[in-house]
Amino acid sequence: MITDKKKNMPDKITIAIAGMGNVASTLIKGFQFYKNSNDGLWHPRVGGFTINDINLVGVFDVDSVKVGKKIKELVTEPNGGFGDLTVQPGIAEDPRPSHVLNHGQLKSVKYNEFVNSLKRIKPDFLLSLISSGMDRSGEMYSKAALEAGCSFFNATSSKIINPQIKSTFESKGLMILGDDLMSQFGGTAFHRGMIEFMTNRGIKIQKAYQLDVGGNADTQNTMAEELREKKRKIKTESISVEAPYMFRSTAGTTEYAEQLGSSRVSYYWMEAKGFLGSNIEMDLSLRTDDSTNGCNVIVDSIRAARMAISKNDLTKSEIISAYAFKSPLKKMKIRDSIKSFEEEFVS
Ligand SMILES: NC(=O)c1ccc[n+]([C@@H]2O[C@H](COP(=O)([O-])OP(=O)(O)OC[C@H]3O[C@@H](n4cnc5c(N)ncnc54)[C@H](O)[C@@H]3O)[C@@H](O)[C@H]2O)c1
Repeated sequence: MITDKKKNMPDKITIAIAGMGNVASTLIKGFQFYKNSNDGLWHPRVGGFTINDINLVGVFDVDSVKVGKKIKELVTEPNGGFGDLTVQPGIAEDPRPSHVLNHGQLKSVKYNEFVNSLKRIKPDFLLSLISSGMDRSGEMYSKAALEAGCSFFNATSSKIINPQIKSTFESKGLMILGDDLMSQFGGTAFHRGMIEFMTNRGIKIQKAYQLDVGGNADTQNTMAEELREKKRKIKTESISVEAPYMFRSTAGTTEYAEQLGSSRVSYYWMEAKGFLGSNIEMDLSLRTDDSTNGCNVIVDSIRAARMAISKNDLTKSEIISAYAFKSPLKKMKIRDSIKSFEEEFVS
């Protein structure tokens, strides 16, 4: 348990974001809101830092509608004092899929030019909040972060983290965190919590599903069949950690419904057995706001990682990734990951 900021700890954490979409905008609004309140913050202080210690120093996108604009032109509400930052062009290494950026033209720079931009601002972390399915770009962002001397955070479902890249980052005193952000109280976290509770109460789950419907741009992107399949695999594997036995389950994004806007609805069904094989059947739905749901986890991980990096305690990335992502290298039960995270980082 940490008690206060250590003497050798930096005062501020600097971040740059690739992908100026819904999550980035929400995060920026949060930086303003939490100047005067702790309402809705999961952990006001992590690693000795408050959310106000996080400083946004760069934003990148490849949508020509966004590149060149100031944040204040894109985030209409208060923008955390970062309104005058200009969105710079990022890297576009994927063939442009029809489901992404269908309203704008691409505006990007070559890899080396991006690395130079990153070196100029030298953030502690580069956060990849780019659209689902941009796998090659995500990978190039992680390489660019490494080359520029920044730690990397992959919120997307692209498979970026592996033991080799993790140790390459660590050999430079940096961290890589990922993959696929697990929202604070989203479809996957809630599903895992239910399974844990039922198995702890001695109930034997037989079959289950979780069907997610959303109305934002990311859900629309996920409708591409290949991506849908990939996300289904990640979510299904993520929830399987919670039960000590196998049962038939499917979890995945099922439909895009524009009228839901920023909301996401998860529909759950579970069939289980109790004493004398008695039947237990559950039908539930959970509606949340997608972008806000990810932000506590993002600001918690960055602060924890900054603390661990300053102490050169780089293997702590395993706890942070298990706490914050659906597909970490080292999987932990959700309860254990929160406990370990709080013991290490929350004062
Ligand atoms: N709770 C959550 O919101 C949550 C949970 C898990 C994962 N995620 C992931 O976080 C990411 C961001 O989510 P979002 O809702 O903000 O998405 P979004 O679609 O609103 O925004 C994505 C942004 O990335 C930009 N982009 C696309 N390719 C790029 C590239 N190569 N370089 C730079 N920018 C690029 C797009 O122009 C867009 O502005 C997604 O991959 C999503 O799957 C979010």
